[in-house]
Amino acid sequence: MGKKAELHFEGNVYDLPVITGTENENALDISKLRSQSGLITLDRGFKNTGSTESAITFLNGEEGVLRYRGYSIEELAEKATFLEVAYLLIYGELPTKSELDFFIDEITHHSLVHEDVKSILDGFPSKAHPMGVLSSLVSSLTAFYPKSLDPNRSKEEVNGTIIRAIAKLPTLAAWSYKNRMRQPIMYPKNELSYTANFMHMMFGLPTFEKEISPVVAKAIDKLLILHADHEQNCSASTVRIVGSSHASLYASVSAGIAALWGPLHGGANQAVIEMLEKIKGDGGDVDKYVAKAKDKSDSFRLMGFGHRVYKNFDPRATIIKKAADDVLNELGIEDPVLDIAKKLEQVALNDEYFKARGLYPNVDFYSGIIYRALGIPTDMFTVMFALGRLPGWIAQWKEMRENQEPIGRPRQVYTGYPERLYVNIENR
Ligand code: ACO
Repeated sequence: MGKKAELHFEGNVYDLPVITGTENENALDISKLRSQSGLITLDRGFKNTGSTESAITFLNGEEGVLRYRGYSIEELAEKATFLEVAYLLIYGELPTKSELDFFIDEITHHSLVHEDVKSILDGFPSKAHPMGVLSSLVSSLTAFYPKSLDPNRSKEEVNGTIIRAIAKLPTLAAWSYKNRMRQPIMYPKNELSYTANFMHMMFGLPTFEKEISPVVAKAIDKLLILHADHEQNCSASTVRIVGSSHASLYASVSAGIAALWGPLHGGANQAVIEMLEKIKGDGGDVDKYVAKAKDKSDSFRLMGFGHRVYKNFDPRATIIKKAADDVLNELGIEDPVLDIAKKLEQVALNDEYFKARGLYPNVDFYSGIIYRALGIPTDMFTVMFALGRLPGWIAQWKEMRENQEPIGRPRQVYTGYPERLYVNIENR
């Protein structure tokens, strides 16, 4: 007999089955609650709602644990490469050497995009934010690969769509930057690795791999790995819910990019640097900004602080903080903004307001400092996040399709007018 809970309401008792996950997390299964009792649950922002059962990523916010397919984020960030992690997330197991070689080869040979994408790009003003451009370009892939519109095609065809998404995102991301700079686009080079190819298309560094130090190359890979998945976050949930209508992978990922863009989600990395710059420009008075963040009449928040699920520390932030130090040391850069970030972290960590609410630096508090050191412009930071998050979105979309999940369609508690009669315009 499985576990169950009882709900007592208006003299009736309803049994709610309890589902237990691999890590002993219990969930009340309320899927039959409405048909049995007429009740629905209300949970604004889904703070306490499991939208699915998933075997991809495990996260324990209280203990700061994050694992992809059972492997700890610390170990993957240290020992694996980004494409190895992408394979793990999407296909469920670490690849063998030949599986990985084949995967990389497939990705390398699909990195070109159709020439007509250039005319779409030309239509954007140079001021266009690269996230908006990227989301549009990813959606435009449906026009060049119409077969991708049907996610119910053969496994091989769906896999071709997946490979193209991973292969083409760096090209589209770099081109969105080139549009912004009004510089000629650069084509991918097959002899370069995934990351080196992206840097080449951004900055024209054909010898990137030879010139870049292993510390910096590893830091970029680490950043992508740390961002690769984070279970049912805002953008992953968006990808799943869009895909649940049987929309294509490209349409679903395009929506995921839009969701990631906002400053409360992936856009936080851009917002953090802008905030740190503002504090620096205002004389570096960290205490003033901590006070502003605590003031309920002031809408200012400490960007890069707080997380919906991590309430003690974000394990990704610990790894990134160290990587930021390593990269700046390696490149001999002294970034005053890093000093402000560290000071801010210390003040906030010792402040009762932040302690009481479990607000700690999240993954994006330090990532922008690394991107800056690498010469990546501020409005491209969230694009970097999207590059890293793509395997997670794909894994979430694929799992949702393979499990044949029903269309995502929440309910609501209606609070508007009861029925009323139409009033003719002359009588209003
Ligand atoms: N600065 C100041 N106060 C904060 C902050 C912050 N960064 N974050 C939360 N709080 C306060 C809230 O005012 C609230 O206080 P109250 O209980 O007195 O009303 C309390 O902490 C809880 O905040 P919520 O907004 O209810 O928490 P929620 O889980 O909904 O939000 C979020 C999490 C959106 C990440 C929030 O902490 C935030 O806005 N942080 C800044 C933006 C950011 O860094 N986002 C990136 C997240 S990581 C990622 O997506 C990759």
